[in-house]
Amino acid sequence: MNDFIFHNPDKVYFGKSHLGNLPAELKAFGSKVLLVYGGGSIKRNGLYDEIVTLCKDNGIELFELSGVEPNPRHSTANKGAEICKREGINVVLAAGGGSTIDCAKGVAAAAKTPDGDVWKLVSGGVWVTEALPLVAILTNAATGSEMDAWAVISNMDTNEKIGLGGSALIPKVAFENPEYSYTLPSYQTACGAFDIFNHALDNYYLAGDATFDLLLEMQEAVMRTVVKWAPIAMNEPENYEARANLMWASSMALNTILDGGTVHGCACHAMEHELSAYYDITHGHGLAILTPRWLSYILDEETAPAIYRFGVTVFGVDSGLEPMDGAKKAIEACSKFCFETLGLKPNLSDLGIDTTHFKAMASHACAGGVITGLKNLSPADVEKIYEMCL
Ligand code: NZQ
Ligand code: ZN
Repeated sequence: MNDFIFHNPDKVYFGKSHLGNLPAELKAFGSKVLLVYGGGSIKRNGLYDEIVTLCKDNGIELFELSGVEPNPRHSTANKGAEICKREGINVVLAAGGGSTIDCAKGVAAAAKTPDGDVWKLVSGGVWVTEALPLVAILTNAATGSEMDAWAVISNMDTNEKIGLGGSALIPKVAFENPEYSYTLPSYQTACGAFDIFNHALDNYYLAGDATFDLLLEMQEAVMRTVVKWAPIAMNEPENYEARANLMWASSMALNTILDGGTVHGCACHAMEHELSAYYDITHGHGLAILTPRWLSYILDEETAPAIYRFGVTVFGVDSGLEPMDGAKKAIEACSKFCFETLGLKPNLSDLGIDTTHFKAMASHACAGGVITGLKNLSPADVEKIYEMCL
């Protein structure tokens, strides 16, 4: 167990009854607000009208950046930064899923730079310490962006999808009402759920040697929560318990509570971001295709006990097996969850992906070195894993 600092200043309003506090929370920063949202889901489910009415009734001047894409583009964030500069915006309000919140973070950061270009921050690997304040209303349980310090921004001109991090990117306030996720289609529910699952598995649980028993059990609890509640949310979209469990699991998985004292890896995430950078696929689906193959690839005598423990505690694989046999059963259970329970198509070829860019993607995923983790991965390893996913 390593030393750590835990500091997450995000104030979360969780539940059905809190949106009335939105005007006061916004006005703490000023009365000029940029509302950032995606392709229209918040208009269809009524959230947009609620926000507009609350702002109008409370003397808040609302400006808008709409049309944020899934896998949000740097060019869209730059448009938002321009509005912020031109109008003297005091606070950015994101209403949507991870893409919308990430784009709003890009807007908030770029608005504080002289030329308003988020890509300079992203490509320069800048740790953002200055940004406009951000308030988030979450509608999709998935990325953890509502409570974390990261935004993932895409530049489709260069096939790059890169994380922008910084203490100033943590939302000041987040509203998490599980009812806002009732309208999520089953496919997005499945993809979001697997993203949550993979954050616990990939980032911390199978990241390396430094583990901390309390946190291992909390990471397992997050994964078990997804295994239990995702199929229920898919079958009963308006099941509040299911939506609430997934939403809080989303926040728990990446708000740094699960990583204190551990090491941090992200093998599947590094490999997946290349898939969405080149092919604009849905992040959680890419992760689901990669994860069981990655587990098979890294399985050996050394990794088998950890993979087996995951099978027992998360999927109820029998205890008392030889570690290698148990680990194989764990991987089988994980595959079954991804491709049968969540119903996600199992192969990259199902998403129109072939070998064309594998070499470039593998090299970029390793960023000039290796992806560190329970087993370090070289570009050649990553290429083989992509091939296993075909
Ligand atoms: O654009 P709208 O119309 O809002 O529709 C969205 C979009 O089409 C729709 N949706 C969201 N909430 C809905 C809804 N539809 C109906 N009802 C609702 N309540 O779902 C679609 C996908 O939305 P998106 O925001 O793209 O999904 P998600 O939340 O999974 O975000 C994915 C993005 O976040 C990044 C991913 O790489 C990807 O770019 N990530 C961000 C992270 C972070 N900030 O820390 C970490 C993650 O690992 C991830 O990389
Ligand atoms: Zn993710």
